[in-house]
Amino acid sequence: MQTIVAVDKFWGIGKNNDLLFHLPEDLKYFKEKTLGKVIVMGGNTLLSLPDSKPLPNRTNIVLSDVFTRDDCTVVATLPELFEELKKYNPEDIFIVGGAMFYRTMLPYCDKAYVTKVDADGGARLFFENLDSLPDWELESQSEPVISNGHTIRFTVYRNNNPLKY
Ligand SMILES: NC(=O)c1ccc[n+]([C@@H]2O[C@H](COP(=O)([O-])OP(=O)(O)OC[C@H]3O[C@@H](n4cnc5c(N)ncnc54)[C@H](OP(=O)(O)O)[C@@H]3O)[C@@H](O)[C@H]2O)c1
Repeated sequence: MQTIVAVDKFWGIGKNNDLLFHLPEDLKYFKEKTLGKVIVMGGNTLLSLPDSKPLPNRTNIVLSDVFTRDDCTVVATLPELFEELKKYNPEDIFIVGGAMFYRTMLPYCDKAYVTKVDADGGARLFFENLDSLPDWELESQSEPVISNGHTIRFTVYRNNNPLKY
């Protein structure tokens, strides 16, 4: 399974249950990667989406033990989540946030698509600094792209020692 995230220059990802930046080019990249695939998120991230609704044209799976919904799959515990994920090809599964859920799932991911924004977004929530984790290695980095006045780069990291689930 993989993860996809946009980080600022301090690996910040969010504040006030929202993203740090509006980046149309990154939203387009996220869509290209995840359309038709399985996206998996924590409860706060579902609530942070437009109208608190699952994203269209993707299988949405949410980990939450406080709500039930009929517009997406909700699982209440991690063991339940791992059972659910066995139904899908690991290559089709994307962990899409947020901070708490990324932290829980990162060791099981073999790839991370990290959009790096060259700015300080004043984040309150952070992703792990993959450059400081021994199992993770930078595989590729795009040329810089300007999005909404920010310089961004699309990078890919590989986990050389992913946990099995
Ligand atoms: N920059 C990016 O790419 C990006 C992507 C996604 C999200 N975000 C940002 O991240 C922030 C939300 O992150 P967050 O940390 O507040 O919330 P989160 O990770 O989206 O959701 C946390 C919730 O997930 C459920 N959960 C249950 N068991 C869990 C477990 N073992 N591990 C993790 N979660 C578990 C709990 O929900 P219940 O309390 O309902 O049981 C918990 O409160 C927002 O600011 C959002 O905009 C940024």
